[in-house]
Amino acid sequence: MLERLIYQSKASQDFGTLHLFNLLTEARQRNKRLGITGHLLYLNGQFTQCIEGQREGLDALWESLLRDVRHHDIELLARYAITERRFAEWTMAFSSYQTFYVHGMTGFFPVDERTESPLAATCRGASTPDNGESLPLPAMAD
Ligand SMILES: Cc1cc2nc3c(=O)[nH]c(=O)nc-3n(C[C@H](O)[C@H](O)[C@H](O)COP(=O)(O)O)c2cc1C
Repeated sequence: MLERLIYQSKASQDFGTLHLFNLLTEARQRNKRLGITGHLLYLNGQFTQCIEGQREGLDALWESLLRDVRHHDIELLARYAITERRFAEWTMAFSSYQTFYVHGMTGFFPVDERTESPLAATCRGASTPDNGESLPLPAMAD
């Protein structure tokens, strides 16, 4: 069964650009193997992540996330069955302030302090199962 899980957490350390880039690169490789898609938002030391996939893949990743000391105060916001993925094109899209962009990074969506990116809004909105339709978003080549 296809499911979506959304949580938020606090970064245990000040994540630098390269550190985040490495985390994402590894995450995307594993997500590809697990059939996970989703979106990670990092703003002001806080993560909000939306992950989608088959229940077994989600369980495996969730267990890993819970024991990962790089973040804490992990709060599960929602988990529910879905019929369609919102982030089907991304092994893990990433939104943050422009300063976190690493040259050549695919699937990066800058967030403005005033106007939140549609992707970040979709990620937050996903914690309510029936919160609108998924937005038409560009595909990520990875
Ligand atoms: C905020 C955050 C988001 C992460 N997202 C993912 C992810 O999407 N996919 C993934 O495989 N690992 C992700 N990780 C890393 C996992 O927590 C874990 O270190 C990795 O999957 C290896 O799992 P293992 O330690 O059980 O072998 C993330 C870590 C953090 C701190």
